[in-house]
Amino acid sequence: MPVVTKPDVPAVKDNRERFLERAMSRHHYSGDALIEVLHTAQELYGFLTPALLKTIARKLRLPPSRVLGVATFYHFFSLEPKGEHSMIVCTGTACYVAGAQGLMRVLEHRCAKAGSTSPDGKMSVQAARCIGSCGLAPAVIYDGKILPRLTPDQLNAELDRIGVK
Ligand code: FES
Repeated sequence: MPVVTKPDVPAVKDNRERFLERAMSRHHYSGDALIEVLHTAQELYGFLTPALLKTIARKLRLPPSRVLGVATFYHFFSLEPKGEHSMIVCTGTACYVAGAQGLMRVLEHRCAKAGSTSPDGKMSVQAARCIGSCGLAPAVIYDGKILPRLTPDQLNAELDRIGVK
């Protein structure tokens, strides 16, 4: 697992579930908001897992087959991580102010732009608007775990560690 997490940082609370709930609530749990909700879920988690699709179907009171059908029909939804590793950089206001653009520049330079996977398949990169951990800015979700207050140096070290050239 990643070696870049600072030892003096307390356990990180993952607020993505709460954010997804809020997105569904904003649409009054209407099935008409399915695509919007799937977008939010993918932005928060990087890709749509079976568990996520099941939760969304239940909350929006839609048949799971319909949710899966929509998720597989549109090419911009992904049901699995594309790269060996995935990194979602939060570019919301707090993270932007705290240096998210610097992290994005490192990833663009060494791996891939947001929304794509590096040519060697090592890393899929995504950007999110806010992952609900603004106090840990700039926050990054790396292989499903939140890395708080990540610096470009730490990011470079982790990319070196996993063999990104
Ligand atoms: S702005 Fe990045 S976690 Fe909220």
